[in-house]
This record gives sequence, C-alpha cells and structure tokens, in this order.
Amino acid sequence: MEVLSVLGTGTIGSNVVRAGLALGYRVIATGRSEKTLLKAKEIGAVALRDNASAVSQADLIVISVKPQHFTELIKSIPRTFWKGKTVVSVMAGVRLDTLSEAIRDANLFRAMPNVNAVVNMSATALSGSSAGKDVVEALFRQLGVVYWITEDLMDVWTALVGSGPAFISEIVDGLILGAVASGMPRDIAHSAVLDMLRGTVENLKAHRGHPIEVRDYVTTPAGTTIRGLKAMEERGVKAALIETIEGSSKRASELGKIVDEKIRRELLDAER
Ligand SMILES: NC(=O)c1ccc[n+]([C@@H]2O[C@H](COP(=O)([O-])OP(=O)(O)OC[C@H]3O[C@@H](n4cnc5c(N)ncnc54)[C@H](OP(=O)(O)O)[C@@H]3O)[C@@H](O)[C@H]2O)c1
Repeated sequence: MEVLSVLGTGTIGSNVVRAGLALGYRVIATGRSEKTLLKAKEIGAVALRDNASAVSQADLIVISVKPQHFTELIKSIPRTFWKGKTVVSVMAGVRLDTLSEAIRDANLFRAMPNVNAVVNMSATALSGSSAGKDVVEALFRQLGVVYWITEDLMDVWTALVGSGPAFISEIVDGLILGAVASGMPRDIAHSAVLDMLRGTVENLKAHRGHPIEVRDYVTTPAGTTIRGLKAMEERGVKAALIETIEGSSKRASELGKIVDEKIRRELLDAER
C-alpha cells in the first residue's frame, strides 16, 4: 500500500489526510501537541510526532505546517530522507526555489487550496513540473477541483481563490442585511441568498459567455434590477472589487517575499 505522510495536521492538513484515506493510502499524520495527534488518529491516520520517520516511510509527502514552522521541521529531518520522494508544500508564499534549497533530489510541488476543502469544494492551484504530477493531482482532486498554474500566478490565486471565500461571505452578509432592511426575516434571507448564489453559479457556468450577458438578461428597462445596478455603480462596487483583488494580491506578494526571505536566511543559518 502506498504511504502518504502529512506533516502538520491542522485545518488544511486534516483535509489532506481525509483525501489520502479516501484514495486508499496508508496515511501518517504528524503534529506536536497531543490535541493534534489525537485528531489525526480520530480521522483514521497513524499519528506520529516524529517527522523524520513519517518522511522515511512515505512515497508522497504533504507539508502543511505554517511557514514560520518550516525551518524547525526541516531541521528535524535528515536531508537524504527526501531523496526520490514526491513532496507538496501547501505553505503560502514559500517558493519552489526556496523549497528546493531545503529539500534536494525530490519531486517538488506547491499547492494552494482554499478553505472550501472542508466541504470538498476547494479550488486548488498546483505548480511544479517534476515527475509525480498525476499522484499530486489525484490527491487534491479529492478536495475539489484542480488548476495547474505557473508559479508567478500564485499570489493572485491566493487573493482571488484563497481569500475569495471571505470576500464572497462579506457580499452575502450585505445582501442579507439589504433584505432584512426591506422587511424579510433574516433566516429566510440567508437561505434564499445562498440558493440564489448557487443558481447563479450554475447559470454562469452553463452560459459560458461574459457575465454581463447574464446580467443584461435580467435587466428589464425601468425595472427593479437596473435600479439596484445604478446603486452599485454610484457606490463604486465594481471598482471596489477590482481594488479588493488587486490589493489582496499585492499583499500576498509582499507577505510571500517576507516569508520566503526569512526561510532562506534561516536555512542558511542552519547550514553554518
Ligand atoms: N487555512 C487555509 O485556508 C489555507 C489555505 C491555503 C494554504 N494554507 C497553508 O496551509 C498551511 C497550514 O495552514 P492551516 O490553516 O492548516 O494551519 P494550522 O491549522 O495551524 O495547522 C498547522 C499544523 O502544523 C502543526 N505543526 C507545527 N509545527 C509542526 C512540526 N514541527 N511538526 C509537526 N506538525 C507541526 C501544528 O500542530 P501543533 O498545533 O500540534 O503544533 C498544526 O496542526 C500554512 O502553511 C498555510 O499557509 C492554509
């Protein structure tokens, strides 16, 4: 049986563990605290504190610790243990170049899932070009859909798809409040907005044209929709959304640089 080791069984890690179990892997999941190890066991993995042992036993390895814990993790694993393994990092901001400084002779990939992995509907970006693409893709497909992108698009992916669920939740909240302001009970508004969103997604997917075509189909002259659209225009909603993604993407890039440079410095110090 193939072995998957998940190093760091937190929010993302535990979903990767579930994905591996569903694919029939024997899964080893690591953590530092009793709480994490217990959770790993409950999900059905072999829980270990020893990351080196987890790496040595595995064919496929997913690194899902926070970036600030990466150097400490790397230091606990002999370099030769990585040889020939397929390794995926889900750590935000840590570049493939930097990973390859720490992990030599392995097939390296980056993955950027989003929080919708908890309902198996993540849209996950994958980067990397080494052998092992198929197994990496199959693993993340268990969590939703997968896109192969070039690494230079990871920051905007992080903004659009990583932070996207927060932006959409904010918009959903605004729509609910608007309905409540117009006299609808909150629970009905909440459920109705989610159903309307789901329907709109399916409609947009089926239509495949520009979103504006669907918008215009609903917009009758002097009707209710154009009144709402006018308010959105006056309040600059579209400009705000463009700035939301642009700003968030810039921040992802800034944070990525900080995280990446810090890890590079720590790795150099560890070598001395
Ligand atoms: N959350 C998201 O939506 C999301 C999306 C995309 C990417 N990411 C990336 O995914 C990674 C994990 O994020 P998360 O939200 O899942 O974080 P999290 O819930 O804090 O999980 C991190 C886990 O790593 C464990 N850990 C830390 N140091 C360790 C070590 N030396 N050995 C073994 N386990 C160790 C922690 O266990 P203990 O508490 O027991 O130490 C914890 O369970 C991050 O790098 C983040 O950038 C997250």
